[in-house]
Amino acid sequence: MTRLSVNLNKVALIRNARGSNLPDLVQVAKDCERFGAEGITVHPRPDERHVTYADIPLLKEVVSTEFNIEGNPNQKFLKMVLENKPHQCTLVPDAPDALTSDAGWDTIKHQDFLKETISELKSAGIRVSIFIDPIKEMIEGAKEVGTDRIEFYTGPYAHDFHKNKDKAIKPYIESADFASELGLGINAGHDLNLENLRFFSSNINNLLEVSIGHALISDALYYGLHNTIQLYLKQIK
Ligand code: PXP
Repeated sequence: MTRLSVNLNKVALIRNARGSNLPDLVQVAKDCERFGAEGITVHPRPDERHVTYADIPLLKEVVSTEFNIEGNPNQKFLKMVLENKPHQCTLVPDAPDALTSDAGWDTIKHQDFLKETISELKSAGIRVSIFIDPIKEMIEGAKEVGTDRIEFYTGPYAHDFHKNKDKAIKPYIESADFASELGLGINAGHDLNLENLRFFSSNINNLLEVSIGHALISDALYYGLHNTIQLYLKQIK
């Protein structure tokens, strides 16, 4: 069964625009779970323009499903993750000034760093996932560094979906099967939406989790958060 983890970064972005506590991120996290979300994801970036470091312990206290913290594992990020002990930490190689994550790890070039970081997180009882592109060598590298799961960067799939969806999904199908053979768990995220999610989740074997933020929060402006979460759940069940 694929789980839906709702990424709350865009909710925090709206809150930060006014410097007050509206919308209340903690309340939104609780409501997402009440409306059916099976996980809450946050991605504190170095400039804290979305979720801030101060939000993390408050969210950790209330999230009762699965708490996933994503980010580039610099020293500050790792310290925060180890202090807050989420269920899962997703390592992402995004540059400090990146608009959004736009590529997976080079698991060969960064092998030593990833091995060390993953081992530290796993020793603290935190499940680790690493963000990667659907490339065989990168998946072999992921196995080598000891991660529990991989998260496929689905931006290119979403981008090419309308041109040729079968072609767009092919590398993900092959990579997912290969990752499963190696014993890696499979997550996916980025640019998934109500148009492209069902095709993705119904074609990818053993898809454990999708984390979705931008499109889901945008859809909620029209349909409301409760309906929107239900609509997304329908795509993956
Ligand atoms: N996964 C990772 C690693 C991300 O960085 C993001 C965006 O913060 C997402 C998933 C969710 O992407 P989107 O906001 O496009 O749904």
